[in-house]
Amino acid sequence: MGADASFIVTGPSAIHGTVAVGGAKNEALKLFAAALLSDGPVTIRRVPDIEDVRHMAEIVRALGATVTAGPHEYTIDAATLRNAELPAERMGKLRAGLVMIGPLLHRFGTLTLPLPGGDAIGRRPIDFFIQGFRAFGVQVEEEADAVRFTARALAPAHFVFPFVSVTGTEALMLFAVRVPGTTILENVAMEPEVVALGEFLNACGARITGLGTPTMRVVGVDRLSGGEVACIPDRVEAVTFAALTASCGGSLTITGCDPAHLQVPIAFLRSMGAAIDADAATGSMHIRVDGPLRAMPLRTHEYPGMATDFQPPLTVALTQAHGVALVHETIYEGRLFYIDRLNKMGANIILCDPHRCVVEGPRPLAAATLGSPDIRAGIALVIAAAAAQGVSTIHNVSQIDRGFEQIEQRLRAIGVDIRRTET
Ligand code: EPU
Repeated sequence: MGADASFIVTGPSAIHGTVAVGGAKNEALKLFAAALLSDGPVTIRRVPDIEDVRHMAEIVRALGATVTAGPHEYTIDAATLRNAELPAERMGKLRAGLVMIGPLLHRFGTLTLPLPGGDAIGRRPIDFFIQGFRAFGVQVEEEADAVRFTARALAPAHFVFPFVSVTGTEALMLFAVRVPGTTILENVAMEPEVVALGEFLNACGARITGLGTPTMRVVGVDRLSGGEVACIPDRVEAVTFAALTASCGGSLTITGCDPAHLQVPIAFLRSMGAAIDADAATGSMHIRVDGPLRAMPLRTHEYPGMATDFQPPLTVALTQAHGVALVHETIYEGRLFYIDRLNKMGANIILCDPHRCVVEGPRPLAAATLGSPDIRAGIALVIAAAAAQGVSTIHNVSQIDRGFEQIEQRLRAIGVDIRRTET
């Protein structure tokens, strides 16, 4: 999958059939860091085969861990870990690399963190990480393009996050599990991926309570054992496929998902007029959209609210709904800039400020040539192209490959005319 591949999408599409969602990217990435804390091998199953996971596997390999990969499965043995030298180029590609800080501090006492990368979705500072590690007594020195962390005498922390942060919560939890004493973390992220990571750490011997609540207590332990874990279903994939169906019309069964994690987007899509049957027992949901949709206001929020990662695909669905909807992106200030591309395709969206836009619909979309800015906006443009009349070209597909496995094959199987060209 080349960095400069493009998708050619011929629309409009009518969605039909069944699609399976994979394991959660944003849990899988963090489990690689958890493995570095353990004495024994850690096997992670249901791992999506995507670029970000491959970067993470290479990062832990560069540190000396033994990594064995199978289909959707990795085994990481940290017994061979030999250094804390995080490879700057790969670290520059994904923000999830920040979760390495805690495990490496426990193993080596010091590390230099090259500044992390990730999506082009706005300012993504690391001040909570710096403040949080300092609360444990870690010495943190900021340099031009790196940050140096040194752990000498450690003390449990009582840290209150000024703003809920998913990776911030995970990074401090991954450190606290082996800091002697009781750490209290407040205003923590309650996302299912955070809970799943904490539950795996507990299965390996950690003592974390309060997972899934705003306050987490962590009693430090001397050691963690190895273990086995399967990633929870990827919520964002499930909502992306549902938003595709809402945008194009049709009917789709989405399997391998957990409807309990999808209550808000399901309620939102139902309010728009989609018929959705969700079955927790089988982990599946069926969505049917065969009539007009209604506009609904969309406001992103930390879990259990509407995830920011759902916003771009659902905004495409709003372009096909009757009425006016305010989209309020509360988490990132750079996550609405793809709407100029939707307007180029015929949508009528007014950007009020970096956090808010007003979508007026329904508007027929026309094909266009577009660049994919980040994972979520990129897949939103694919959805728009599937709904649009004509042949669209979407460049910079490597952004989409970061988060979606074999996306064109899976979309083709449910009625989207899409092919990849390596240019
Ligand atoms: N923030 C700070 N300072 C910090 C950390 C965060 O100001 O030190 C701010 C951010 O700028 C942002 C807000 O806090 O405005 C929340 O960011 P958070 O830290 O929660 O985001 P993240 O942990 O970096 C993860 C996911 C994102 C997802 C967000 C929100 C991973 C690897 N990434 O990012 O996923 O959008 O949580 O749910 O877990 C994606 O998958 O496409 C993606 C971007």
